[in-house]
Amino acid sequence: MHNNLNKEGYMLKKRAFNKRLLTGSIIAASLAVSPAFSAPQKNKWQAPQKNKWQMPDPVTDADYPPRNIAKDELGKLLYYDKILSGNKNNSCASCHHALTDTGDGLSLPVGEGAQGLGITRNTGTGENAVHERVPRNAPHVFNLGSYEFTTMFHDGRLQKSDLHPTGYMTPAGDDFLPGLDTPVAAQAMFPVTSPTEMAGQAGENEVANAAVAGNVREVWRLLTKRVTDIPEYLTLLFNAYPELNSDVNHINFAHIANAIGAYEATAFRADNSPFDNYIRGDWSAMSPKAEQGFTVFNTSGQCVSCHSGKFQTDEQFYALGVPQIGPGKGVGLNGHDDFGRELASGDPADRYRFRTPSLRNVAITGPWGHDGAFNTLEAVVRHHMNAVSSLNNYDDQQAVLPSRSDLDAIDFQVHNDSGSRTALANSIEIDPIQLSDQEFTNLMAFLHALTDPASVDLRATVPSKVPSGLPLWD
Ligand code: HEC
Ligand code: HEC
Repeated sequence: MHNNLNKEGYMLKKRAFNKRLLTGSIIAASLAVSPAFSAPQKNKWQAPQKNKWQMPDPVTDADYPPRNIAKDELGKLLYYDKILSGNKNNSCASCHHALTDTGDGLSLPVGEGAQGLGITRNTGTGENAVHERVPRNAPHVFNLGSYEFTTMFHDGRLQKSDLHPTGYMTPAGDDFLPGLDTPVAAQAMFPVTSPTEMAGQAGENEVANAAVAGNVREVWRLLTKRVTDIPEYLTLLFNAYPELNSDVNHINFAHIANAIGAYEATAFRADNSPFDNYIRGDWSAMSPKAEQGFTVFNTSGQCVSCHSGKFQTDEQFYALGVPQIGPGKGVGLNGHDDFGRELASGDPADRYRFRTPSLRNVAITGPWGHDGAFNTLEAVVRHHMNAVSSLNNYDDQQAVLPSRSDLDAIDFQVHNDSGSRTALANSIEIDPIQLSDQEFTNLMAFLHALTDPASVDLRATVPSKVPSGLPLWD
């Protein structure tokens, strides 16, 4: 997990979720006061409408910060370089590799100590083996560089915010560094501070010791020194940041994170799906099925009530009752539960709420759900249609988890506990919906039309070597 120091306590402004929004009557009422969604007419461009029930605006260059090639190139190396992990044994790419669709293909990642890529990844061997699974699914990184994304992590514990002098509310509180360019860059400050993800366990290395002690500034200082001690990186840093005036003492981890964020924003921008081209006015870009599925998405499927806007997310938090698998976040009846948004906001009303994910490239970013509980796109969509029934009939065989008996022992503890499962079921705030087989098929076709063909082959975004000389494979 990314370190959740919770030093500051969070003061995030939360939009109280109005459960009634999802009930049929309110939806009907909303539609009554605003024109109902209708598929655009062929050959007639309709001005994009701001109402969230309507067509989103097309994505344009203005949605992304200007490119900075020097930062991109530096970030590309750092993202794949194990130099940023305490034991020099994994990198950002271990869990977000471009060759595995910027996720890892697993339900739950295994961090430092693990070996292999994607579903071939194992839990490692001997003393260096992983200590636990990471409790949440490694999300994809597509489009996160866009200005639209202000909230990072499944529980939104990092948010762009004017309430904090650094511009971000984060788990590091006042220890956070100023100068982070974007939320996705700010996010890159955190994986390195997590013992399980990247830093390592107490006693294994000095970065791990600082991480375990909660001293994030020391983690960042030590790692910055490691990077700047490599001449090639120093040159690249000076090139990317002329304002440093070639003075190594001015470099801190924010420069490293900004480069990683720039690379992520550029390499994983994905806005040329059939859907994008359709929204831009090419009415033949989506198949008729997908086009009808878009209507289902906006009307009978009610998907747009949460998956709204350009990237199909309102960045709000809802309890959907996705089955709880894995080691959890140390809370609940078994101590293996994950309370989701509550862990960031401190508000019990947020229990089991998770952030609405963007649906861009969703067909290629399985497994799905905040803990990867579902291994087919169809299963996670059907879950939405009747969440209580889906939770109670969950087939745990679909979890994609590198096996090891001591880890397996707790994977389904929470799900199999009827008390915990009832608590989760009672939290569900999405009402059942019914779709005809035809509507469902069309809806799936629409979700597939959100895939940018360029994202399917990202080989060009992967370096063949990194300045530390460490191997690129695990
Ligand atoms: C051991 C696996 C692992 C490693 C290594 C790792 N991550 Fe992650 N990453 C995750 C998981 C799991 C989450 C979700 C955690 C949560 O929401 O609580 C995540 C979340 C993210 C997010 C937020 C995505 C979103 O939609 O909110 C970004 C961006 C990201 N990671 C980038 C990085 C970068 C950059 C690095 C390297 C500095 C990195 N990750 C290293 C597993 C990993
Ligand atoms: C009440 C708000 C809400 C509505 C309505 C809604 N979703 Fe979701 N959706 C979410 C949230 C929140 C999650 C993440 C849940 C979790 O992981 O615990 C999610 C997850 C998903 C995922 C998995 C994405 C991933 O990367 O893991 C897909 C696919 C999805 N929704 C599609 C749909 C479709 C299709 C509809 C309409 C039938 C829909 N959603 C309606 C809030 C909503």
